[in-house]
Amino acid sequence: MADAVSMDKIVSLCRRRGFVFPSSEIYGGLGSSYDYGHYGVLLKDNVKQRWLSAMVQERDDIVALDSSIILHPQVWEASGHVSGFTDPLVDCRFCKKRFRADHLDESECGQRPSKHPGETDNCDLTEARQFNLMFETRVGALEETGVPVYLRPETAQGIFINFKNVAQIARRKPPFGIAQVGKSFRNEITPGNFIFRTLEFEQMEMEFFVPPTDAEEWYGYWVQERYDWHRRYGIRESHLRIRPHEADELSHYSRGTSDIEYLFPIGWSELEGVANRGDFDLTAHTQSSGTKLEWVEQDGSRYTPHVIEPALGVNRSMLAFLVDAYDEEVVADRDRTVLRLHPQLAPVKAAVLPLIAKDEGMVAKARALYEELRVVVSAEYDDGGQIGRRYRRQDEIGTPWALTVDEQTLEDDTVTIRDRDSLVQERISIARAREHVLDRLQQPWSTPKPD
Ligand code: GAP
Repeated sequence: MADAVSMDKIVSLCRRRGFVFPSSEIYGGLGSSYDYGHYGVLLKDNVKQRWLSAMVQERDDIVALDSSIILHPQVWEASGHVSGFTDPLVDCRFCKKRFRADHLDESECGQRPSKHPGETDNCDLTEARQFNLMFETRVGALEETGVPVYLRPETAQGIFINFKNVAQIARRKPPFGIAQVGKSFRNEITPGNFIFRTLEFEQMEMEFFVPPTDAEEWYGYWVQERYDWHRRYGIRESHLRIRPHEADELSHYSRGTSDIEYLFPIGWSELEGVANRGDFDLTAHTQSSGTKLEWVEQDGSRYTPHVIEPALGVNRSMLAFLVDAYDEEVVADRDRTVLRLHPQLAPVKAAVLPLIAKDEGMVAKARALYEELRVVVSAEYDDGGQIGRRYRRQDEIGTPWALTVDEQTLEDDTVTIRDRDSLVQERISIARAREHVLDRLQQPWSTPKPD
């Protein structure tokens, strides 16, 4: 069963409130490409920060890396991407459109969108051909020799080729991991489904290097750990599941993969993959580069570590959080759309609102509070329109707390703090407001939406 929230509602909210725009819109748009506006950038950054915090800051055994997008072309020969990172495609000679041969039943016919390709009398599909998903470009110095370089289709290979650097410089001994967040590029043919699958996207990948005998145990550990991370930031249990791959689904490098799937509006789909990559990558780069990527014990014995890889798309994770958070309800006879995001993910943590925008005393107090808050959290000041409208605007972008300066503030220096989810309003002193917001931000949170 698909989630009750339709993708159209998410797309419409994202556009209306400036989270996400179709890319190159004034030129008619570019398929499967999106630009991120103010709230989209803040939300996406919060997703990355929460991931990095769980992976690096809260652990002793993982370090960070930021490798290049364009790597030596031999990297992609060794990794198997040049020969094997392909999708089977068919062209329609009649409508001139191109489709994934394995996704025909999800694609629309170029002439009659209510039909799938191949279903009308006019459809004239070619045989399937393998099409490499890597974007090719050229680096100046290599132009004469005609050697192509690629925009990376995953961040993982930049980690493998730095294994020796990190192991030596960071003085880490297996089990240890290297985490990286960065852009990846894939020439995806499958039509978009909004930001679920795009030509360029950000990945958060971590390669965890372990002694071969411990690989199975660490694989199980990371599947659970990553499942728990999605739950920790509010994804409902009923909308999250772990699906181990069948043997015939496994990638060429994998000894075992489990997808953490989310119930998107398009149905259950991969949110994150956790793979046991064995020694495939370090062995392949050792053979191709001539540099031994192995671990040498103090007694001189050596082995090639095995790798466990959790790999999550930032944009796809953001989409799952948006879908899970989206809610509509009627409050006091008025419709309210609210994003029930985990406060640590919310683009804006606190809004400061003077009840009467023309009251100089209220404005002065509200501005002062806003300026105090914005130093420590993302905050907004809003004095435009009726207070109810202003609350609704903040609800729609998921702001967990709204602090209102009113007549009483002028008498006793207190403000009301309104909770986005419960709508409860409490009075607190202005002097404690900053501490209060910071405290609440650290408290455990679970979604009030039914599971
Ligand atoms: N290094 C392994 C790897 O890249 P993957 O399953 O191809 O594995 C990992 O990608 C994650 O990256 C996916 O689970 C998904 O969240 C995200 N992802 C992959 N392709 C994407 C695309 N075209 N658009 C958005 N996100 C994508």
